Amino acid sequence: MTHFKTEELDSRKGVYVKTFGCQVNEYDTEKMLMLLSEEYKRVLTPEEAEVILINTCSVREKAEHKLHGLLGRLKPLKETNPELVIGVGGCVAQQEGNNIIKRNKLVDFVVGTHNISLVPSLVKNSKIDRTPQVAVDYRDEWEELPDRFDAMPDESYIVKSTFNSSVRALVAIQRGCDKMCTYCVVPGTRGKQVSRDPKEILKEINLKVRMGAREVLLLGQTVNSYGVDLNPRVKFSKLIQEISEIPNVKRIRFISPHPAEVKKDFIDLYKKIPSLCPHIHLPLQSGSDRILGLMNRSYKTSRYLQIVEELKEKCPNIAITTDIIIGFPTETEEDFLETLEVVKKVKYHSVFSFKYSKRPKTSALEFHDDQEIQEEIKQNRLVRLQELVGEHALSHNKSYLNKEIEVLVESTLENIYKGRSQENVHVEFFKDEGQTLDIKMGDIIKVKVLRASPHGLKGTC
Ligand code: 5AD
Ligand code: SF4
Repeated sequence: MTHFKTEELDSRKGVYVKTFGCQVNEYDTEKMLMLLSEEYKRVLTPEEAEVILINTCSVREKAEHKLHGLLGRLKPLKETNPELVIGVGGCVAQQEGNNIIKRNKLVDFVVGTHNISLVPSLVKNSKIDRTPQVAVDYRDEWEELPDRFDAMPDESYIVKSTFNSSVRALVAIQRGCDKMCTYCVVPGTRGKQVSRDPKEILKEINLKVRMGAREVLLLGQTVNSYGVDLNPRVKFSKLIQEISEIPNVKRIRFISPHPAEVKKDFIDLYKKIPSLCPHIHLPLQSGSDRILGLMNRSYKTSRYLQIVEELKEKCPNIAITTDIIIGFPTETEEDFLETLEVVKKVKYHSVFSFKYSKRPKTSALEFHDDQEIQEEIKQNRLVRLQELVGEHALSHNKSYLNKEIEVLVESTLENIYKGRSQENVHVEFFKDEGQTLDIKMGDIIKVKVLRASPHGLKGTC
């Protein structure tokens, strides 16, 4: 491919982005960068930037604090360069809107999760008039990017685009959530479930594959309820089938399915679709049925374990990962031990564990103070959970020792190759002496595993 512009000739101004939170936020950041790409190129430090975008997360209180910490650190920059534009997006922006502007004079605009297409005009207006702007209107349809970004791009666009070298394509298939878990801020910040038109999803995947993507990571809050709000309805399993037929899509993943929405055709996918990775991230949240009830999770642990059994039957090497919340109000030692029991039965490859944190406008706020779990107890339970999970992760990873696994190469810096196995385990490898293979990003390489830790594998090819 001939690049029409080299870095030296690229006269676009700099935009620096900081993304907090989940992959949905990463995806939104990518969209913002793409929308700005005509005029702005991504830079890696705030000092080089004329525009700074902060994409916030409010799923836990700690994540929200990070916004204010970062704004504090940017203050001197804005003082020396009053032309600098600072925009705040993401879930905190959607939730707090005007309050952010009131609380912090550094911020030029706030853009909510339903108004990403407004980012270029918010930036432009900020350059002209320094009155802070707030765009947080709710919209109940899918917000697609302007057509010119979805059309088949020409070479120059590929060079300018921000995701051209990404082997893994993040693709949102759904926005918002109808589940109303009592601890969760997402239905408040992202709104009701809206599924995206399957034609648009396939178009975006085709485009990203043309740009070098080999793995597709579908994003949604409850991906397996995708399509129930479309007319005509589209099944998640049908969507996966169609994605698997796109040439060069070597791996398909998705996050996250909801256990209460798991049906037979979903489980069958793991047998039917060879490119669907043998990995599932299936949030458990708690192993106590009483706590699951209080969380409004609408399944019991027995059903969860049954799903796990069925998945293992269809796909014996499946890696299972999960999310667990520790210290939900009223959680007793017995409840916690029940969680550990489920963890022992499933033997997760990895677990994201979080201490419960109170979130605005969630119904779990109705618990009384004396029903909240003390910090030391939460911490103690978290450590115990993580110890157990670490043992399981290590034993899974050791089982790959001296075996050959397939790794999709995601980075090739200084002859150290990094990527992931089909099971989503991080792998670092180097070439054996005499190995002449030319290894590029996006290749799938057979790696012999030589070392295993709870966090990943090392090997050679
Ligand atoms: N406190 C702690 N963890 C939470 N999560 C969501 N809301 C909260 C909260 N209020 C966790 C859940 C979810 C993950 C993305 O974040 O485990 O699956
Ligand atoms: Fe939040 Fe529950 Fe929806 Fe997940 S399923 S986004 S935890 S409300």
